[in-house]
Amino acid sequence: MFARVTGTGGYLPGSPVSNDDLAARGVDTSDAWIVERTGIRFRHLAEAGETSCQMAEIAARAALEMAGTTADELDLIIVATSTPDYIFPSTACMLQGALGNKGATAFDVQAVCSGFIHALVIADKFIRSGSHQKALVVGAEVFSRILDWQERGTCVLFGDGAGAVALEASDAPGILSSALHADGSQVGILSVPGQVHGGKIWGDPFLRMEGQAVFKTAVRVLASVAEECCQAAGIHCGEVDWLVPHQANIRIIESTRRKMNLAPEKVVTTVERHGNTSAASVPLALNEAVRDGRIRRGQRVLLEGVGGGFTWGAALLVF
Ligand code: UT7
Repeated sequence: MFARVTGTGGYLPGSPVSNDDLAARGVDTSDAWIVERTGIRFRHLAEAGETSCQMAEIAARAALEMAGTTADELDLIIVATSTPDYIFPSTACMLQGALGNKGATAFDVQAVCSGFIHALVIADKFIRSGSHQKALVVGAEVFSRILDWQERGTCVLFGDGAGAVALEASDAPGILSSALHADGSQVGILSVPGQVHGGKIWGDPFLRMEGQAVFKTAVRVLASVAEECCQAAGIHCGEVDWLVPHQANIRIIESTRRKMNLAPEKVVTTVERHGNTSAASVPLALNEAVRDGRIRRGQRVLLEGVGGGFTWGAALLVF
């Protein structure tokens, strides 16, 4: 029994915000710096009041429509987010309510930028076990709300959005192999350390990052988890048809691609237009490449993510 992707969907709020737009809004930066260090040219930012759940619903409905699945048929809903609408209940339960599904298992996964990969792998294990048949896996984020807009080293990197996949139990190959890892000794290199306490915010409620430490760790773990995942499926990394990596920085993506011996045209990149949308980045990129016809049925696709925790993971699937 395999978990097979039957539909994909995505949503980006508002219109693209350029690097020059950020500079015009008072961020002490330049288009040249951002493009050279990250490859990012645009990102989308949610309107005040636009939430992860609202964006998740739009992406989810698109994925379900492509799959030909109705919301009431779902028996599993997982949302990966680090920017949930509420502390509780989970965004997955809120999404379930918005979609009009009753009774499905629904919960959130918190693994920051590798959250979607974690959620996908969990859904795969539910489906393979035989306990669930039709799953919806969503990554949805409004990182613009947890950015310190005075800190140019971080605020230029991120964007908002949501991406979704519908999965179904199938005899035909779907997800072939996967790997998930974490290293809790690296909690401090990428975090939002604040908390709500007695009605007040305690500590620092903004995203803080040691950029170079994150960069080096990301490059190391993404190449090794790609290798691990391909080995588990009995193929070489160079044999995948598409790499859909987490979209944080074009230099991280390029370095992973080279280590995997993959041709540049086999890599899906959206970082230039989306920035880093955290848990939404991989399903948004997958959705783009599926909808524009690059990723076709029967091709091998390697998805991978890396983020705060430190967490990382990969899933190899036949689309
Ligand atoms: O999902 C995972 C999330 N995070 C990542 O993947 C990020 C990984 N890290 C990175 O991508 C890079 O470390 C950054 C793009 C964040 C930073 O690039 P860097 O080459 O490591 O630059 P840096 O932090 O060492 O800063 C170099 C210079 C500094 O100026 P001085 O001290 O050399 O005069 C910064 O103040 O660049 C300056 N700088 C900026 N200048 C213009 C930092 N941010 C900006 C900015 N615009 N936005």
